[in-house]
Amino acid sequence: MRIGLLTGGGDCPGLNAVIRAVVTTAAVEHGNTAVGFLDGWRGVLENRSRPLSPHDVRNLLPVGGTILGSSRTNPFTIDGGPERIVANLGAAGVDALVAIGGEDTLGVATKLVERGVHVVGVPKTIDNDLSATDYTFGYDSAVSVATEAVDRLHTTARSHHRTLVVEVMGRHAGWIALRTGIAGSATAILIPEVPFDIAAVADQVRSAHASDGYAVLVVAEGATPAEGSMSLRTGSKDAFGHVQLGGVGEAVAAELERQTGFETRAVVLGHVQRGGSPTPFDRWLGTKLGVVAAQAVADEDWGMMTALRGTQVVRVPLSEATGTLKIVDNAEYAEAGLFFG
Ligand code: F6P
Repeated sequence: MRIGLLTGGGDCPGLNAVIRAVVTTAAVEHGNTAVGFLDGWRGVLENRSRPLSPHDVRNLLPVGGTILGSSRTNPFTIDGGPERIVANLGAAGVDALVAIGGEDTLGVATKLVERGVHVVGVPKTIDNDLSATDYTFGYDSAVSVATEAVDRLHTTARSHHRTLVVEVMGRHAGWIALRTGIAGSATAILIPEVPFDIAAVADQVRSAHASDGYAVLVVAEGATPAEGSMSLRTGSKDAFGHVQLGGVGEAVAAELERQTGFETRAVVLGHVQRGGSPTPFDRWLGTKLGVVAAQAVADEDWGMMTALRGTQVVRVPLSEATGTLKIVDNAEYAEAGLFFG
């Protein structure tokens, strides 16, 4: 069999680990060959690909990003897009496609399965917001980068008796903010799932200053104020209809300074969270997910996604992963709140 691979959506550490695992397992275990499409779905639409042999992927495990490139191209918003995908896969002699991506890329994959394309999905996103898997690879690396930043910000905040507001990624789900905030002992954590009351946050900042002389807060980029308590700006939309966010950290910092009188700065971590080498956990998870994806292809188990359940990597229907986003529940957030202030 000839397997096509693509990586779509925002990149993240661990993508190359998956590519290495799929290509190597496919060749060594099953005698299959592989080809990589460049820049996500765009590469399939434009017929751009490169061969991938086990030799090509040998030394990829610690390398960040994706050797295949990525894009947010959505073939279903392009006239004749899905038809071109089906035709170009056929012309390239591809019998099966391994799509490595988040809700958008795997949403496209799910629709292509309905059109008869032989797809297996692998869950990727630093946001960790895909259902049906306990973790997506990339999340652990992002949290590790963000936690290191928060640790560093504690010392400078303390020296200057300041409040520092750290904005992390997470449009719809606050997983990065939650875990970073817990690991980084944040004064408060603001997440998209629970609208915040800025006056209550200001009280937590006052309390932290009273005890420690400074405060460090972690804010997800998608966090929103409770109705009427503060206003925020929003940005333009991408091909999947997501608003490009940013600015909540600055807005929260300005309002906290106004309400508390403490000197306050905002730090936006942005794409730093997506760059660089994967953590050991993400190298392991990417490898396991890739091995099981190659096995699913060999078994012709189409329409499945590889998923972490406990300590095992299993196959689940793609539709289970893309139906609804996995978000932080109130009980988990309340538990983190025990340490606020
Ligand atoms: O989907 C992952 C993600 O990193 C989100 O956390 C973030 O909102 C978005 O991508 C940023 O996208 P872009 O790289 O297109 O600015």
